[in-house]
Amino acid sequence: MAALMMRLGPGSFGSARVHRPALFSAAAAILRSVSVSATQSISLPEMVKIVEVGPRDGLQNEKTVVPTEVKICLIDMLSEAGLPVIEATSFVSPKWVPQMADQEEVMRGLHKKPGVNYPVLTPNLKGFQAAMKAGAKEVAIFGAASELFSKKNINCSVDESLVRFEEVMRAANQEGVPVRGYVSCVLGCPYEGTVSPNKVAEVAKRLYSMGCYEISLGDTIGVGTPGGMTEMLNAVKKEVPVEALAVHCHDTYGQALANILVALQNGVSVVDSSVAGLGGCPYAQGASGNVATEDVVYMLHGLGIHTGVDLPKLLDAGSYICHSLNRKTNSKVAQASSKL
Ligand code: HMG
Ligand code: MG
Repeated sequence: MAALMMRLGPGSFGSARVHRPALFSAAAAILRSVSVSATQSISLPEMVKIVEVGPRDGLQNEKTVVPTEVKICLIDMLSEAGLPVIEATSFVSPKWVPQMADQEEVMRGLHKKPGVNYPVLTPNLKGFQAAMKAGAKEVAIFGAASELFSKKNINCSVDESLVRFEEVMRAANQEGVPVRGYVSCVLGCPYEGTVSPNKVAEVAKRLYSMGCYEISLGDTIGVGTPGGMTEMLNAVKKEVPVEALAVHCHDTYGQALANILVALQNGVSVVDSSVAGLGGCPYAQGASGNVATEDVVYMLHGLGIHTGVDLPKLLDAGSYICHSLNRKTNSKVAQASSKL
C-alpha cells in the first residue's frame, strides 16, 4: 500500500560545521503515503524521532523541589522505554530556575544507555562549560522569535542571545559536541501576542546557519492551531531544510496533537513531548505542559509510524513521576489505560 519515496537532502541549505547525532537521520527522511479514503492519501514519515523533554521542560516548572533521585529514576525509566533522546536538565542560573539547581548530580547519576542522547540546555558559555564538566555530550541553545519573551526568559534581546549562542557554538565545535537550537513563541507570545512567521523563519535560519543540527520550533504557550502551524512551517521551510526541523507543542489549548499531525504532513519527523504532559515555562505564565509523550506515541503508532518506544513502559514512567509528584497525569492515553 505504501509508496516509498526518498526526499532530497539539505542541498543548498547545507551547513558545513554541524555535528549531527547519527540517530534516526536517514530513516526519518522517508515519507510514506497513508490512504485516508479511496481517493485521498497523505504523506507521513515512516519513522519519528521523539525528543522527551519531561525531565527538563516537565520538571523545571514544579514549585516544590523534586528530589534528584526521582529525576534520575524518571530518566532511566524513559531510556528503558526506548526514548532515543531525553533532555535531562538545564545548566541555567539556579536563581532563575531553582528546580534545575541539581543539574550536575542528575548528569552524573543517570545511567547512560548506549544509543540514547541526553542533551541539556545551555543559555551561555558558562552553562556550556558546566555542562561539559558534568559529562554532557549534546547541548541545546534556546532563543525566541519574540523580543519580550527573550528578555523575560534569558534577560537579553534576540540579537544579544544570538551573540551568546555563537560563543557556545564555537566552544561546542571545538569539543565536537552537537548543538540543538530552540525558537520559542513560534505561534504566539505571552507578552507580544501575534508573532510573525517571517520572524520565526529569520531566527530559525540564524540558528541553523551558525551550526545547529536541528531547530525545535516551540509553541511555548500552546496557542497555535493547525492553520497557523502550516503558515509558520511554510515560512521556516524556505530557510531551513525540513529534515532539520522539530516541533515542540505545549498543549495549553488542546491543539498539540492536531498541530503535530499537520507538522508531520509538512514533512517534519522530529517531535518533542513530555511524559505525562508535565511542564511549562516559568517565564511564560499560564503555559501548561508539553503534549504528553504517551498521547504522541499512541497517535504515531496508530498511524503505523515507528518510534522505537514501548508504550506500556512509557506509561509506567508516567505513572511513576505522577505518583512521585502526587498529581494526576495530563495524558489522555494514561487516563484511558487506567495506569493511574
Ligand atoms: P543574567 O542574570 O542576565 O546573567 O541571566 P549574568 O550573566 O548577568 O549573570 C548573573 C548571575 O547568574 C551570575 O551569578 C552568573 O554567574 C550567573 P552571581 O554573580 O549573581 O552569583 N549565571 C549562571 N549560573 C549558572 N548557570 C549559568 C549562568 N549564567 C550566568 N549558565 C541567564 C542570564 C541566561 C543565566 C538567566 O536568564 C537564566 O538562567 N535563564 C534561564 C531561563 C530558563 O531556563 N527558562 C526555561 C527554559 S526555556 C523554555 O522552557 C522554552 C523551551 O521549552 C521551548 C519552548 O517551549 O518554546 C526550550
Ligand atoms: Mg517548552
